[in-house]
Amino acid sequence: MSARGPRNPAPGSPYANLNSPSGSPILLWHEDSLAGTRLRLRPKSVDVVVTSPPYNLGVRYGAYRDDRPFEEYLAWIGRLRDAVDLALAPQGSFFLNVGGPPRDPGRPWRVAQEVGERFVLQNVIHWVKSIALPQSALGRSSGVTRDLAVGHYKPVNSPRYLHGAHEYIFHFTRHGDVALDRLAIGVPYQDTSNVTRWRGAGRGVRCRGNTWFLPYPTIRYRRTDRPHPASFPPELPERCVRLHGLSRVRLVLDPFVGIGPSAEAALRLGVPFVGFDVDEAYLAEARRRLHSLGAVPAAPPVRPRRSRRASPARGLSPGP
Ligand SMILES: C[S@@+](CC[C@H](N)C(=O)[O-])C[C@H]1O[C@@H](n2cnc3c(N)ncnc32)[C@H](O)[C@@H]1O
Repeated sequence: MSARGPRNPAPGSPYANLNSPSGSPILLWHEDSLAGTRLRLRPKSVDVVVTSPPYNLGVRYGAYRDDRPFEEYLAWIGRLRDAVDLALAPQGSFFLNVGGPPRDPGRPWRVAQEVGERFVLQNVIHWVKSIALPQSALGRSSGVTRDLAVGHYKPVNSPRYLHGAHEYIFHFTRHGDVALDRLAIGVPYQDTSNVTRWRGAGRGVRCRGNTWFLPYPTIRYRRTDRPHPASFPPELPERCVRLHGLSRVRLVLDPFVGIGPSAEAALRLGVPFVGFDVDEAYLAEARRRLHSLGAVPAAPPVRPRRSRRASPARGLSPGP
């Protein structure tokens, strides 16, 4: 094994078996997640699923073809839903990030409807990637002296449609009754002089609401700075995990981990993580990023004689 982990993992082993600096395990599997979640995870062991599946928009991924007939795609989303259903804990949260093409803006809702066959849609969060803010709305105390336009979006090459500057994060739970830690991702009160009468004001923050402004950082070279055609920023999964309630999170799953922002979020938060992708190049980039953030190869599990296999974290198996 090299210092950065195995280059060609043995069959049945994870692509990367790492520990975060705080010691929590991070496993990346190079396989189809619909099969892998059944094979690698104990039933009902995952507290938070946060993921962005392919949207069937003809995006040019490396190993996956993103242009199936729509009905076939929806059936596949149904199989993803069933796989998550097996893995998710009774009080778990399933955050599903989906965007749609300009010519069919209702498509994310058809995906949500398919998942809603088994789960309750508890919240709809709008991931805002770019926004224009009038100076007048910011107030004098902001110090801002002109209107602001912040963030990036992919321009639409048609006079019929507006540029797409947002996507959805559908928050599903089993029964719509999962209490959230809203203040864990709260925003500071603008004026704190009058807030003691509000519940939760002790933390000095209020609920952020269901519009999340999460701009992509400005990059110079996509091939090196963000080598994935449909990646989300790590702040997105981080916010989802914290919203669910960090103290209740024993395992996070991303079935479509790409270059690893959700693994990065788990590392920062010190929670166990398992991710899957069918594309080895993306996993290599995810592993490289995790190493640069201080992840280290996990020590092989110690197997004392006449005892059963050691398990690194509840619900998480590193191999056969
Ligand atoms: C929208 S991207 C997710 C990107 C990821 N959130 C990121 O920020 O890098 C979808 C990913 O799913 C992967 N994929 C497609 N089908 C898969 C499957 N059946 N199992 C696992 N991964 C799959 C693709 O290779 C692609 O990286």
